[in-house]
Amino acid sequence: MTERSCSRRGFMRFCGSAATLATASPSNAQAAVAPEQAYAPATLVWPDGSRVTGDSLEPEREFVFFYPYRSTPCFLLRLSAPASAGMALTGSAGRTYRWYGGVGPDRAVVAYSAICAHKLSHPSPSVSFIGYRPQPVGYLGEGNRVQRRAGVIQCCSEHSIYDPAQGASVVSGPAPYPLAAIGLDDKGAGLIARAVHGEPVFDRFFERFGFRLALEFGEDQFHQPVGEATVVQATEQFTRQRIQC
Ligand code: FES
Repeated sequence: MTERSCSRRGFMRFCGSAATLATASPSNAQAAVAPEQAYAPATLVWPDGSRVTGDSLEPEREFVFFYPYRSTPCFLLRLSAPASAGMALTGSAGRTYRWYGGVGPDRAVVAYSAICAHKLSHPSPSVSFIGYRPQPVGYLGEGNRVQRRAGVIQCCSEHSIYDPAQGASVVSGPAPYPLAAIGLDDKGAGLIARAVHGEPVFDRFFERFGFRLALEFGEDQFHQPVGEATVVQATEQFTRQRIQC
């Protein structure tokens, strides 16, 4: 089986799933506004099955879960300070969308797709080039001057930097738009993922990595919705090698 044939079938299934699950918001009716897609809700749970609450997250530690599909990784973070209460962001082709800010008792809990908006680098069981950096990292800022900043999501593939406190907006590097944001509900009893805001890049992801994802998750599984619950784990328990740069 070739990668091409496998990924094409996966993509077609993905399109069918997305068509079934995605609920068009009023904003979808306008081409100038980026999609804000509601997906079937999934309860965030620890490996022992207990509910993940904002309070149960260790601040500044990176966690991984899968949403809205079984093979699409996301980051879950409790930042050291409240995230923005929400803001308008720009996706591809200048389309705007709304990010609704952090949730939890201190509004510091955020979740984003862990698939880089540039060339789709993402955490896998063997290696991750992208991740949250609580310690200061260097990057090229305005005027090509080197700057240092802590509390960013950094992709070491081509050095894109995202700000998780500002909707994962692009701080530096070649990423063309922010990481897609995962809409979270926090009803007190625990966190629930329920939507994707921005540019989810899932079609490109399945097309490019479908062959490998089929091996890791099963050919009939990787493009399926994650289901009613999705397991959250610390990234170091999910991936063997976290690349720093
Ligand atoms: S894939 Fe992340 S910067 Fe290129």
